[in-house]
Amino acid sequence: MEYVSRQAETAVGLDAVAEASSGSGLILGIESSCDETAAAVVRRGRETLSNIVASQIATHAKFGGVVPELASREHLRNIVPVARAALAQAGVGFRDLDAIAVTSGPGLAGALLVGITYAKSLAYALGKPLIAVNHLEGHIHAVLLETAAQESRLATPILALVVSGGHTHLYLANRDAGGGWRYENVGRTVDDAAGEAFDKVAKLLGLPYPGGPWIDALAPRGNATAVPFAFAQVKTKRKRGAAAPAPDEDGIPPTLFSFSGIKTAVLRYAETHGMRAASEARQRALAALPAPKAADALALCDGQTLDLIASFQHAVVGDLLGKTFRAALARGAGSLIVTGGVAANRELRSRFAAEAQIRRLPIGFPSLALATDNAAMIAAAAWPKLRARGFADSSLNADPSLRLGSSGDR
Ligand code: KG4
Ligand code: ZN
Repeated sequence: MEYVSRQAETAVGLDAVAEASSGSGLILGIESSCDETAAAVVRRGRETLSNIVASQIATHAKFGGVVPELASREHLRNIVPVARAALAQAGVGFRDLDAIAVTSGPGLAGALLVGITYAKSLAYALGKPLIAVNHLEGHIHAVLLETAAQESRLATPILALVVSGGHTHLYLANRDAGGGWRYENVGRTVDDAAGEAFDKVAKLLGLPYPGGPWIDALAPRGNATAVPFAFAQVKTKRKRGAAAPAPDEDGIPPTLFSFSGIKTAVLRYAETHGMRAASEARQRALAALPAPKAADALALCDGQTLDLIASFQHAVVGDLLGKTFRAALARGAGSLIVTGGVAANRELRSRFAAEAQIRRLPIGFPSLALATDNAAMIAAAAWPKLRARGFADSSLNADPSLRLGSSGDR
């Protein structure tokens, strides 16, 4: 098994308010919602003692996407060694833990079940509390974990853009009276997630899976204004006769994203410009390499392909940016968080950071190690729940479509 230790630049420092009931606040986090088997030990939601991730990219790459049955099988194979490695690297034993936290959804049912079953058995055998964590809340806590030492930096309410392969959501996050967090879902995609569009566009251009990092690496080599992609305002996606999305509790309509249109536009552009044969040849050439690198892909791309890649990324980032900052203004956000796999994207980070500076809005991104799926974010999100004694019981089950927070648009 191949796994990596993803240590981020963690803020170290213990919470001044020690609570005897939370022990030393050592939480083992377990994450298995998609194609990473991950375990991490985090102390008091802010000090990462270990962060182990076993990626299944090599297993799924030849299929061009995650194959759910293979994902479950790989999780089964990896979960025990990954958890042991997390404890060993943290230098703690199972008995030192104060709680076991696990992702209970959203995600692939069979994949989630592996983590849940393991976490439940561990909690039962050790007599430790079990804490269920929503994967999307985990992504938000990836940033809160790394900014915990400067808590006042991200003023509430925080508008969090969670942008990954499975999700494109906006949440307004506020502290609750008990020191925990409350979320209001104020935006979502009506079709594909942004990361899904990156993956699909990469695939149709013959680039490996997952496509986001490849597009990120190649985009600076193309002209981002070469192909003018337009994002229509998303108003018409509702079924005929269906009611308009209801305004939420603040009377503001939700922010709607849509990324299937741009994927189709890229496909049409590639077809009408005769790019299919070159894409297929590129796919074959890269598949023949044992470990293809960005330089290999670059050598196989002509100027037109690089321009298309750059224009696609520029348009997607521009759409995410415009809608997120408009929502921040409309909802009086005190700061911003951008998190999830797509938050690793360099153009996204630099444009969001520049815009935030112009608007004097504090902004937080996860370190690259915590942008994509990991278990440190799950253990961090569990800390306020441990303090509030928000425990799950043995009936905990996988919820593939688990939602986060309240929403006026349901
Ligand atoms: O958060 P994540 O690991 O898993 C989900 O919860 O979905 O996100 C994976 C997604 C994939 O779609 C991948 O292509 C995208 O994040 N991604 C990127 C980059 N790195 C990963 N997209 C754009 N630029 C990147 N550098
Ligand atoms: Zn994720």
